[in-house]
Amino acid sequence: MSNIKAIKGMKDLLDNEAMLYEKVINVCSSVAQNYGYSFINLPHLENTPLFRRSVGESSDIVGKEMYEFVDKGGNDVCLRPEGTAGSVRAFIEKKLDKAKAKKRWFYHGSMFRYERPQKGRLREFHQFGIECFNEPSVYEDASVIMILHDIFKKLDIKTTLKLNSLGTAQTLLEYKKSLVDFSKDKCLCEDCLRRKELNPIRMLDCKNESCQKELENAPKLSSFLDDESKSDFIKLQKILDDCGVAYELDERLVRGLDYYCKTAFEFVSDEIGAQSAVAGGGRYDRLVDYLGGESSYGVGFALGVERIMVILENKEQTIEPSGIYACVLNDSYLNTMYIISHKLRQNYKVTLSYDSKKLAKHLKDANTSNARYFMAIGEEEFKEQKVLIKDLISGNQELVSFDDLNKYDFRG
Ligand code: HAM
Repeated sequence: MSNIKAIKGMKDLLDNEAMLYEKVINVCSSVAQNYGYSFINLPHLENTPLFRRSVGESSDIVGKEMYEFVDKGGNDVCLRPEGTAGSVRAFIEKKLDKAKAKKRWFYHGSMFRYERPQKGRLREFHQFGIECFNEPSVYEDASVIMILHDIFKKLDIKTTLKLNSLGTAQTLLEYKKSLVDFSKDKCLCEDCLRRKELNPIRMLDCKNESCQKELENAPKLSSFLDDESKSDFIKLQKILDDCGVAYELDERLVRGLDYYCKTAFEFVSDEIGAQSAVAGGGRYDRLVDYLGGESSYGVGFALGVERIMVILENKEQTIEPSGIYACVLNDSYLNTMYIISHKLRQNYKVTLSYDSKKLAKHLKDANTSNARYFMAIGEEEFKEQKVLIKDLISGNQELVSFDDLNKYDFRG
């Protein structure tokens, strides 16, 4: 039994890492809520065709990375590799497309991709994502970007925003044709040959240097943009300029999933090695229709929580001391302390030690547990029906009677 280990590319999160995870999710959720987004919880398992049709046959995700299997009922199912497809499925299933409902959702949790694990790249990883439905305004594209900008500011993380416009379905159709034409006699890697058949724009973000060289003088997507995409893209840049959000235009940013149109963006960081994208997203106005719903606009992003954690772990993290460490110096006072702790737990976090030890040993444990307050009952205290309370930051200490504890403010 002891030989059983976690599956490759899947890891436990505990102690400081778990606290950091919670911190990232809390910051993301509170920023998204400030922009009018509310929580949606989606299943981890979906019918495989959902991802084949949305993420796309040409993507690496569908082509090579899906955790797909046949369940006991003979259904072809798949652990979700991302959250957009499930959100669209839920939007259609709840008939929100027919109701022309405007919805702003955020979600977080595990995603699964069978990739080669390395730093910042896992097989089970976590995303925080948002999706907005039925909002055509380019101001929402700006807000989606601004949410990420605010999150990174709150977490004190430096990133670079890369921005592109992919235009409409027609733009992409014409552009893809010209790209295939251009690459006819070029020497490309096997992946690019597959992409050329399935979705030629994906050749543009091939990591292979020789492919990049071959495609150096490829036609530019910007010269194929329709008027609306062009003016929306200019407007988006103006909004970002007005709000002081810096960006770089990147014509080769086409994203690894097939459903995008118009706005496409990525936030990258040079602090996570080769895995440079910490978040990505864009507009997907055709996806609801494509999955069988009534045509509805869509825009959103997803952020890789582990990649953010790698960056934060590189910095010194100070986790604020919080709560109370409660203890006794003699077993016979434990029942009293247990009842006191139970009452305090209605409002505060209390870590209660069941061991009776010397004061100094308890104080050491209180510091290890990162508690803000130390609370103890020894012989003298018990005689006077009082507890000793020490503020572990200021060092101040006092005796407080059992009856007055409900008035004591442990928030500092
Ligand atoms: P994505 O670019 O595939 O987009 O993933 C978003 C982020 O998830 C990436 O930027 C990266 O930080 C993180 N990520 C991806 N794969 C891994 C991995 N194997 N290990 C660790 N982190 C990873 C999407 O998933 C779209 N659904 C985003 C979206 C939402 N577009 C519109 N709405």
